[in-house]
Amino acid sequence: MIGNQNLLKTNSPHIIDFQVIGSSELGYISVAEAQRHTPFEIKRVYWIYYTPNNVQRGFHAHKELDQVLVAVSGIIHIKVIDQDEKESLFVLDDPSKGLYIPRKHWREISFSHSAVMISLVSQIYNEQDYIRDFDEFKNYKE
Ligand code: TYD
Repeated sequence: MIGNQNLLKTNSPHIIDFQVIGSSELGYISVAEAQRHTPFEIKRVYWIYYTPNNVQRGFHAHKELDQVLVAVSGIIHIKVIDQDEKESLFVLDDPSKGLYIPRKHWREISFSHSAVMISLVSQIYNEQDYIRDFDEFKNYKE
């Protein structure tokens, strides 16, 4: 299912339902085309895997980077915090779903051992775009 709401480039994190093609007999394909299924041009893809069970990663925000996370295997729990310290909790346990996290949102991500997380990203890697201190994140204005 693809709803128009999926493409809204809002300032709120939200779940994207990707298209599901296939059947239980053959298996499934989900697909993300830039700007059709993600609300930005995809400039980078990275993936995280073989984490210890329940390990937590993230603990940063980005200044200008938007991204969509997909648990293509396993389960990941994500806490997203905005600059007003409003928290939103998401569970990704279905490879047809993604979580859109806009820029200027803090994220804390917990992985099951079997989790493989793909991240579709609007920018190439740039450490200068990271905010790794929570107080600095809350006060970041630009
Ligand atoms: P980081 O984004 O901090 O991972 P996490 O928040 O999941 O712990 O990245 C960890 C390290 O990997 C950091 O030293 C930068 C490096 N890295 C790259 O070189 N390129 C990339 O595209 C990414 C995502 C990370």
